[in-house]
Amino acid sequence: MEKGLDRRELLKAVPAALAVGATGGAGAARGQAPAIVGTRRAGGARPVVVASGNGHQFRDGGARTAVEETFARLVAGEDPLAAAVAGVAINERDPDDTSVGYGGLPNAEGVVQLDAAVMHGGSGRAGAVACLEGVRTPAAVAQAVADRTDHHLLVGSGAQAFARQLGFRVEDDLNTETSRQRWLEWKRRIDPEHWLDPERQAAAAERARREMLAAGRLDPEHAWGTIHLSVLSPAGVLAGVTTTSGLAWKIPGRVGDSPILGAGVYVDGEVAAAGSTGRGEANLVGLSSFLLVEEIRRGAHPKDAGIEALRRIRARTRERRLLTPEGEPAFNVHFYAVDRAGRTAGVSLWQEYAGRPSRYAVCDEDGARLQATEGLLERPA
Ligand code: GLY
Repeated sequence: MEKGLDRRELLKAVPAALAVGATGGAGAARGQAPAIVGTRRAGGARPVVVASGNGHQFRDGGARTAVEETFARLVAGEDPLAAAVAGVAINERDPDDTSVGYGGLPNAEGVVQLDAAVMHGGSGRAGAVACLEGVRTPAAVAQAVADRTDHHLLVGSGAQAFARQLGFRVEDDLNTETSRQRWLEWKRRIDPEHWLDPERQAAAAERARREMLAAGRLDPEHAWGTIHLSVLSPAGVLAGVTTTSGLAWKIPGRVGDSPILGAGVYVDGEVAAAGSTGRGEANLVGLSSFLLVEEIRRGAHPKDAGIEALRRIRARTRERRLLTPEGEPAFNVHFYAVDRAGRTAGVSLWQEYAGRPSRYAVCDEDGARLQATEGLLERPA
């Protein structure tokens, strides 16, 4: 059994006037939800949801994307973290989002290993799981770590046993046909004769990843694919969640930034919620989400705070293997943030990467939309 409200039940529960993107009409074409009015509570905040671009891309066969689902739950009065976790579960369950949950791109051995973290600005609760296998919705397990234990991070078989004990369904294999075929293609490219010395194998693995990106066989946003979603509720409560299948074809056991509090997600209930997608290693060394929230605490606008976090990554990236021929980072990283005043931002190290402009998702009373991120750099040459 998976935890959380059934989406169809929720659709019945949310008053029609507040339902986002579920009713059709002129504004409800794909990617364009109808406007919502009157969502601010007396004395409260203007609710808003900000997320990575995939937060307004996948619907798992339903009517709503993650930001729409989260927003509908927020205005229906649901706890902001519960709403955020229910929102990202759409991506986690959708086999077409190969960056998270079910059908996420597997590790180098063909096994889907998932990471997730949550933080609740109101209560200060936080929880995370890493290297979790067999559970489609790791963010809900991370929330259970926050709600039901004195701990912040469970990993591997311990995280799986915890999930099983709480009634989450544990499956043998979270691969879909797509994720398995992508892994097989990668394997064929790197191991044509079964054997390479480790150095050549590492170089071949990176080359294969780049070739698959260039050939359109790997979505640039899914190579380090992730969804992050931050919310401000009508009562002014902040929360954030990040969930991922991590780096495609990673060394088994590799954990990125997503489940690490302060790196892939950080919430200070008095200040802001922020999180990241992209190359996790770049965030781990600088605890970038924490830095971003601290910049906002010092008075920065969320956009400027995000740009500062990106500047630090750019300055810190010195290893040649991580640089373009021009000496700039050869990867992308994005940050998303909302502060207590409801100001939002989406920023990217590269505005355009692997030929794709970077976008992020926002949902507020004007509806859900994708917007261009602010880039520190334009595009790799
Ligand atoms: N940002 C996701 C990862 O690096 O695993």
